[in-house]
Amino acid sequence: MLQRSVAMFWSSALLLALVHLAVANPLASKRWDDLEVKHAWVEVPRGWELHGPAPADYTFDMRIGLKQDRFDDLVAALYEVSDPSHEKYGQHLTKEEVAALVAPHPNSVDLLESWLAAHGLDPSACQRSRAGDWVIVRVSVAQAEKMLGTKYNVYRHGKSEDYVVRTMNYSLPSALHEHVAVVAPTTYFGTMKSMKATSFIQKNAPTIDTDADFAHLLKGPSSLATVPTSCNSAITPACLRALYNTTSYTPAATDKNSLGVAGYLNEFANRADLQTFFRRFRTDAVGTSFTTVEVNGGGDNQNEPGTEANLDIQYTEGISFPTPNIYYSTGGSPPFIPDDETPTNTNEPYLDWLNFILDQDQIPQTFSTSYGDDEQTVPLDYATSVCNLFAQLGALGSSIMFSSGDDGVGGGDCETNDGTNTVRFQPNFPASCPFVTTVGGTVRVNPEVAVSFSGGGFSNYFARPSYQSTAVSTFLTKLGRTNSGLFNTTGRAYPDVAAQSENFQVVIGGRVEPVAGTSASSPTFAGVVALLNDFRLSQGKPPLGFLNPLIYSTGVGGFNDITSGSNPGCGTNGFSAGAGWDPVTGLGTPDFGKLQALIG
Ligand SMILES: *[C@@H]1O[C@H](CO)[C@@H](O)[C@H](O)[C@H]1NC(C)=O
Ligand SMILES: *[C@@H]1O[C@H](CO)[C@@H](O)[C@H](O)[C@H]1NC(C)=O
Ligand SMILES: *[C@@H]1O[C@H](CO)[C@@H](O)[C@H](O)[C@H]1NC(C)=O
Repeated sequence: MLQRSVAMFWSSALLLALVHLAVANPLASKRWDDLEVKHAWVEVPRGWELHGPAPADYTFDMRIGLKQDRFDDLVAALYEVSDPSHEKYGQHLTKEEVAALVAPHPNSVDLLESWLAAHGLDPSACQRSRAGDWVIVRVSVAQAEKMLGTKYNVYRHGKSEDYVVRTMNYSLPSALHEHVAVVAPTTYFGTMKSMKATSFIQKNAPTIDTDADFAHLLKGPSSLATVPTSCNSAITPACLRALYNTTSYTPAATDKNSLGVAGYLNEFANRADLQTFFRRFRTDAVGTSFTTVEVNGGGDNQNEPGTEANLDIQYTEGISFPTPNIYYSTGGSPPFIPDDETPTNTNEPYLDWLNFILDQDQIPQTFSTSYGDDEQTVPLDYATSVCNLFAQLGALGSSIMFSSGDDGVGGGDCETNDGTNTVRFQPNFPASCPFVTTVGGTVRVNPEVAVSFSGGGFSNYFARPSYQSTAVSTFLTKLGRTNSGLFNTTGRAYPDVAAQSENFQVVIGGRVEPVAGTSASSPTFAGVVALLNDFRLSQGKPPLGFLNPLIYSTGVGGFNDITSGSNPGCGTNGFSAGAGWDPVTGLGTPDFGKLQALIG
């Protein structure tokens, strides 16, 4: 009954739109003129300032994310195939199965197309994702302003001097609200440069030139007791392999297994630096390299080694060798140059990368990404759409690691941007997405302790997923009233796990530099996961896929629980690490040998 009247409603909507095309029927235009706000900021996002109006004839790709009609079914399927106690464990979905679950309802497509047509745009000329849930249409600023009832401006980022074309708010015809998840670029201002904050060179920290001192660790089973004390002040692959118990494992599925590192605008992984790194710290790997894949004109300038890119690739390679590694250099083509009339793409890095990777025939089983923003600076509709794309990637069988952030419970003044300027802990995104595995930071060895900058906390956007409900409620009970009112007790809590995060010896431009940040933790953890995936594949088993349901249940015994240290911020002591899960180091750091036994 309901179905039928809905269908009638839509066909009359379509009819009205067609009539509108023919004779500009005033009723039809009224329908599309009925705009309702989709997302609005109350103030220009911090760090940005208004530069001036966007040129009316500047053109860009407008990405429209349609609501995924059966998304709840996709999430249910993701949890089934990721839960080691479920009969479907490991039976990851095919691309076709995922596409069927994320496809929009045909009515949503029809309505969107009539709206585009009413604005003189040809729906058949749009680019679309495999499932049809993303529609990309090239528009001018003037056109977009009319469609979204908004004003596009050029905004300048104070520190990085990046310019972007964005809006303070945007609207959609009310009839489209229940069909459209997000339109971009609109109110998400994040740029790669501001996201790069998660890795920094440590001035005055010691560097070492070779690993010769602990070459003996590269042979035979290791135990935590044999991790040399030099690892307290300088981290190398040998330290991490000993600490996380991978030294004695020889990868056996390198023909099938691979590890992907997602890098963004102007961060180039340098091949010569990797060889220097290998000669010093991983001599058996000398002569091997990684593959670079350029996404959306990401570039591969070998004269500009990136700190983040080199850190990431040197440590994923350093741990997972000889597993093939792929570095994804994602661009947004040149950033917007004000006063230049040349059309450019506007940077929508996560969407570019995710839509690219989801369309590949071969997808790496393990990923590491070391970028993030304060969650409140990412509009909820945008964050939800990106997070849902990670769920798709997990359902296909990939394990996705993100660094947890480098500001403890929050950097700066921690004021909310809703106009009330309330002090609250500031969670990070995508770390707060429930469909990724978030990696916090530790420091020192024998024992490892939480590093004070380890990002951790509770999402204000995403509710707590059931896989972590026991672990997190146990923590909250112990926490009592501490930090009450500063964080969201029902939110998705992170990090999930941790790994070393300071004094990483990284070769940059031929020189060894010490680098710190949870940017180091994510590739380290991903290196260990790649070896676990190698083990699974070499046993003829499917890869691990989305890790969290496993690590919070049968996998718990495979972690070294980190029980001291804290992550201060926002003028507080933050949270403290303790027995069991905590929002500083999660479940702890990995013990490959133990995890291997648990997943065998
Ligand atoms: C949208 O932003 C403009 C400034 O660009 C402002 O004048 C207007 O009031 C805002 N509308 C809403 C609904 O926030
Ligand atoms: C707390 O998180 C929930 C999701 O679990 C969300 O719906 C709610 O709006 C959040 N509260 C605040 C104050 O951000
Ligand atoms: C390391 O892995 C081995 C198996 O390879 C296991 O027996 C041992 O318990 C693990 N942990 C430590 C601390 O040695």
